[in-house]
This record gives sequence, structure tokens and C-alpha cells, in this order.
Amino acid sequence: MTQRGEPTQATDFNDENSNTSANPSFEAVLGARLSRRGLLRGSVGTVGTAMLAGFGVSACGGSDDPEAPAEQLLGFAAVPKGLADVVAVPAGYTASVLYALGDPILPGTPAYRNDGSDADFDRRGGDHHDGMEWFGLGADGKRSDSATERGLLAINHEATTDEKLSSFFIHADGGTATLPRPALEVDREVALHGVAVIEVAKTGGQWAYAPNSSMNFRLTPLSPIEISGPARGHAQLITKYSPTGTMTRGTLNNCGTGKTPWGTFLTGEENWFGYFTRGAADDAARGNDQSVTSLKRYGRSQGAASRHGWESAGAADQYARWNNSKTGTSKDGSDDYRNEMNGMGYIVEIDAYDKTRTAKKRTALGRFAHESAAFGKVEVGKPLTVYMGDDSRGEYIYKFVSTALWNAADAQPADRLAVGDKYLDSGTLYVAQFNADGTGQWVELSMANAAIAGYGAYRFGDAGDIAVHTRLAADAVGATKMDRPEWNAVNPASGEIYFTLTNNSNRSIDPTGSQYLPDGPNPRAYTDMKGTTKQSGNPNGHLVRMKEGAGQAFTWDVYLFGAEADADKGMVNISALTAEQDFSSPDGLVFSKATGICWIQTDDGAFTDVSNCMMLAALPGSVGDGGKKTLSYTRADGSKLDVATQVGKAATPDTLKRFLVGPKGCEITGLAETPDGKAIFVNIQHPGESTKMADIADPARYQSQWPANAGYGAGKRPRSATIVITKNDGGRIGS
Ligand code: FEO
Ligand code: CA
Ligand code: CA
Repeated sequence: MTQRGEPTQATDFNDENSNTSANPSFEAVLGARLSRRGLLRGSVGTVGTAMLAGFGVSACGGSDDPEAPAEQLLGFAAVPKGLADVVAVPAGYTASVLYALGDPILPGTPAYRNDGSDADFDRRGGDHHDGMEWFGLGADGKRSDSATERGLLAINHEATTDEKLSSFFIHADGGTATLPRPALEVDREVALHGVAVIEVAKTGGQWAYAPNSSMNFRLTPLSPIEISGPARGHAQLITKYSPTGTMTRGTLNNCGTGKTPWGTFLTGEENWFGYFTRGAADDAARGNDQSVTSLKRYGRSQGAASRHGWESAGAADQYARWNNSKTGTSKDGSDDYRNEMNGMGYIVEIDAYDKTRTAKKRTALGRFAHESAAFGKVEVGKPLTVYMGDDSRGEYIYKFVSTALWNAADAQPADRLAVGDKYLDSGTLYVAQFNADGTGQWVELSMANAAIAGYGAYRFGDAGDIAVHTRLAADAVGATKMDRPEWNAVNPASGEIYFTLTNNSNRSIDPTGSQYLPDGPNPRAYTDMKGTTKQSGNPNGHLVRMKEGAGQAFTWDVYLFGAEADADKGMVNISALTAEQDFSSPDGLVFSKATGICWIQTDDGAFTDVSNCMMLAALPGSVGDGGKKTLSYTRADGSKLDVATQVGKAATPDTLKRFLVGPKGCEITGLAETPDGKAIFVNIQHPGESTKMADIADPARYQSQWPANAGYGAGKRPRSATIVITKNDGGRIGS
């Protein structure tokens, strides 16, 4: 997602911070414990690099060919940090642009001119390519889980590069920066959000997408989508569009992804709240009922402006729906869009193989700023588990456990979404509570939990209420506030669950206001300089990992800490990162099923004075492979704060290496692979995003001209794009 540390606008819609719950959560518990111990008292203080021989990690999997030389994972030479406007991969690898913003995906769509005159974005590649999954196609054009040279890519188009309301690269003059916004501009902007499914194939050794494939399709924020699960038909989903509360329009701000064991695509709706406006007196209009409590908890106080002003483009319904105010007189909301936001914030299931099927919002998995949805180990006769994070400062980590037990016959069904109904519409949602000693527990979010049934700040009525107002339910049970949970991924070898915690400017050893003390799973509060700018909190982020135990217990450690190589190894660079490994703000996270490599992608604004965003390859160990550690802080007044944590084994050249550095102003996100591990698809999101709208007419002043400068497409305006990476010797990626 967009803009971490260098906001170009006063309001960063990707940087929400609305967990003002009185939820004592972890730091208060910790604080109480520290006070008891008296610790708070007293005065004690596409450019190749040279190929190296590679370090010795033995092959994991390896080639099928017994004659082939032994494969060495992470045998490539690390890509140095860099600020060039290119995609840099190791020597021996090739990265090619496959599919960019504006590329035609339906027959009859004109080529993209890339000068701000293009329209019809519902027939073209959307913007801000994000999470992505591979769906193999056999020679018959049907699902094949073993296909390696033909498939569909389902790609999230999360957002657009904006400044002062407008998505400026897609309008000739940069667009209208004041309200009201012209409908013509808004129609383009709406349509470039959502999801694309495109066919790709390797022919004559070259990967390309098929612009005229009959399997291609787009979903946009205007596509009809069904509400499924406990919130279906709920009073809080009644809108003028769906008086029965069973349908909603579109999917929005799609970030992380998942792939079900039955072959469908899951997409997470992340920062959807910012697209809605609320009237300045809407609290009173609602009679100050508890919908106001929920709207605030989800980042929309009354008077909030919308990110793009889409509601201002006219009285027509498709614009009015972005005004989440009570404007009608009905009791139930069937004459306005006061409940429209309740239709966003879910995991959405899409059948990538069948464009005729209506997608479904799986409300049993909760409503928050969803990132990826990763399945735990799939075992016959056991429930399925899905892990999920909520990406805002101080939000939580969740787990869904299906009621239905896995039946292997469901892996290749005739009706994939019917299998989705079976496993994803009924189950139990849990939220994570971490203890400082390396243990933790999943706490059930249901009416059976007295803390929820008796919660004072919001009166829950039923399971649908919990599905829609999940954050409030998690507040009620005292879930642990984390440093912005982004993607998660499950290690296919061990079933352990990895979460990126991208950063958190609100960690402090002297908390005031919305800040929190460091705690076990979020133990660092430090200062990092970006040039002459001081960045505080946890600007570089970390990765936490969890291992399921008996019942709802788990154990955890901090697998890896983001840091600069020259930072203090005791308190900041705890994982002992070298110059070939240092990174900041981990975000995208995917385990390769082919090689077991853990791919870590960054969406950073803290280290970008030294390097553009990047992707690293890791071969992690397991929970508990490091040890206990206490971070001892000394405050300005000399008082001390000791934070106990659990840290993973420090990185070595065998276990972590930088694989890719992207062009200027981008983040690296999304990764899909062919089942043989010989091609990976990666997204370059928002190159050139710090370009100023005032410079729209002068390409020389663009922060980036990628991918035009890599020889792709017309015009010089930077474009988000999918790249494909192959190894020149035909080997697996990451070897
Ligand atoms: Fe879309 Fe939280 O990254
Ligand atoms: Ca992010
Ligand atoms: Ca720095």
C-alpha cells in the first residue's frame, strides 16, 4: 500500500490510527507488572550483481533431474541497496514487465496511450498492483494445479497515486484537486480499483499476458457482490442498493490475498474507510446511537473527508453511496447509504476460473483492514484455519477456524464457491493475546464469550454484529495491540505462522496520548535518522511468528527485526543484519511452496534515503530457535524500563539475502509462482509516487519513469506493473 514515511498529503489514508479503545491490552498489563516489580522507580539508568560462490545451504527440494547439479537455495549474489530507477535482480536472473496499469484486458480495448487521455479502466489493468495468486490452466483451458506454463493471475488493484484528491497520472492535466470532482474523472478512478484476472502463458521461452483471453475479467467498486456468512441480511447492511442487506457493490482497496485449498482467490479489503465521507452533524442525525461508536472505531468520525471526493461527482446513486451519512428518513437505512461502509472490510472470495460467478464477502472472517488470508496446514478430518492481520497502528492478529472438517474430495469441486460456503461461512473467529514469556492464547470472539456479551462500550446483539464490528469485539476481550499487522504466511514445512509488523510510530518508552509502551511481541522503541530527520517509535518494523499449541494456546517469537546494518545490535539491529540483508518496513510475505523460501517485501518510507523498496529471500528456522532477551531502556529522567521478549536466531548469509530492489518511489508487493518454482510474478506498486501533481506536464520532473525506461509501453508516466522473474539457466527462483 501507499505512502509510509513520506506523506505528500496532509492526511495519509493508509496510516489509520483509530484504536483508541480503553482496552488495557498488553502494555497496561505489562506496566502493572513492572510497577509491581518496582522497575519504574529509581534512577538506575534489472541490474545484475556479480555472482558469488554462494553460501552453503543444501538443496530443499531441488531439481527433478538426477543429473542436475545440486541446487543451493540463496546461492545467488545479494543485490545491493540502491536508488536507481530500475528493477535490480541478481546476476543470472531476468525480470521482465508483464502487465501494467492501463493495459487492455478485454477485446476491442485500444492500446494504452499513457498520456492521461485513456478511459475505460474497467476494461484495462487497474492501478497499484498488490497481492496476487496463480491459478494454473491445462491445455483444455480448465483448472490444472500442475500447469507451469499457462495460468491465470488474479491481481489486486489496491489504490491509485493521488495528491490533493485526484489520481493525477491518469488525467491529462493531473485532474481536479477541488470539490466537486468531475464525473468523468471519478468514473476512471473508481474503475481502476478492484481486482483483475488475466491469462498469462509462456510461449517460445517468453512470458506474456493474453489481452484477448475470454477468461480475463475485472471486478471494480461497482461490481455486484454477495454478502455471505453471519452478517448476510443483517440490519446493519441494509442500504438503498440492497434493502435486504444481502448484496453490496464492489470491492475496494484490495491488498493481501489468499488461495483456498479448493482453488479460489481470496482478496483482503484494507483501507476502504478512507473512501467514504461523513456529514459534519451526522452523529446527531443518527441520534448518537452506537453506530457512531463503530464508525469512529473504524476511522470515520463525523465530518471526515473522503480520499478522492467521489461522493461529490453528482446525485446519481453510484456517487451518493460514498457519503456514509444518514440523509434519509427511513428507520432501517433503506433510503440512504448510512450503512454503506459496513459492506466493506471483508475477505472476498472470487472464482478466478469463472467470470460469471458473483463473488462473495465472507463475513465470518471478520471486518477490519484486511491483508492476506493464509491457510494453516490442511489436514483431512480437521477444521481449516485462516490467519489474518488488521493493518492499522495498534490493531490485532486474528484466526478463523471452520466448523466443517476438511474433506479431501472438496479440493477439486465442480462448484468452487459452494465449497467456500461450506468452509468459510460457518466457524469461530479468534483474536491473539500475547504474553511476554513467549506464550499466548487465541480468544474466541462470539456471544458465548461473556466479555463480548457484556461489553459496555458497544452492545453486541448477535454473531452478525460481531462479524461487522470485529474490532470492537476484539477490544472487549483485551487483544494485544500490534505494530501494524500486514501480511501473514504459513511455513508449508512446519505450519508456523509468520506476520509482518510493518512499523509503528506510536511505540514509546514515555507514552502519551495514543502511544504505547514496547511489549514482548513489539519490543522496540528507538530513534532512526533519515538524513537529518528523526524517526521514532518502531520505524523499521519486524516479523513475529507463532506456533500452534494445545487447545487455543500458541508460542511465539520475533523472527526478524528490520534495521539498518550499522544500528545498535543490542537494542535495534537485534537480528544482526548485514549490508546484504538490511531492510525496513516489511509488508508483503509469501512462502514458496516449491522451494520453501520465505519472500519478504518492503513498503518503506524510513530507509528510502538509502534504498528503494526491496524483496529479500529467507530460509527461517522455527519458533524458539533463538532465546529470551530483555531490552533495557533508560529514560531521560534516569528511570528504567525492562522489556522481556523472545527473539529468533540471528540472520546469517545462509538464511537471509536481498534478492530485488525496485525503482524509485515504489513498494514491492504480491508474489505468485508457478508450481515448479521456475517463474515468480511480483508487483511493483506506485513507482514515482512522490511526483508532484504540478509537475504532471514535465516527465523530466517525475520521480520515476519506470516501466517506460525499461522499454515497456507508451508515454513516460510511471505505471504500477506486474513483472515476471526467471532464472537464465532455467533453475528455480532463489537458487
Ligand atoms: Fe496494503 Fe497494509 O498494505
Ligand atoms: Ca503497507
Ligand atoms: Ca536511517
